[in-house]
Amino acid sequence: MVEDTDHLICPSAELVERGPARRFDIPAEPCAWPAFVVRYQGKVYGYLNACRHVPVQLDWREGEIFDLSGHYLICSMHGARYLPDSGVCVAGPCKGQRLIPVITKELNGMIYYVKPIAAPERPAPGVTE
Ligand code: FES
Repeated sequence: MVEDTDHLICPSAELVERGPARRFDIPAEPCAWPAFVVRYQGKVYGYLNACRHVPVQLDWREGEIFDLSGHYLICSMHGARYLPDSGVCVAGPCKGQRLIPVITKELNGMIYYVKPIAAPERPAPGVTE
């Protein structure tokens, strides 16, 4: 069921398996970071677009976040690699840390951002969870 507070990101067909991420702005305060969704192994995953090493956006060109293997999300700055389905960094300077997830849902051919009770926090560099 789509709630009044759900925010449409894009039609499902626009988010292809291991293809370009779809970026969007979090429609809530106080989060100032953009976010993105990707499709991996058929499921949609969403994260704030902020590396856990230094708070910069991951993509080297808008939406280009998967590495060449299609199995990792990669930061364009220093090459940290994150698992698409958990956001855990498995290689690079912030290994062991995790991207901040955002809640999404896919319903009736559309992908939505689901507003949480509390907005995602802005990540700080080098903070271990
Ligand atoms: S800023 Fe992302 S790996 Fe350094």
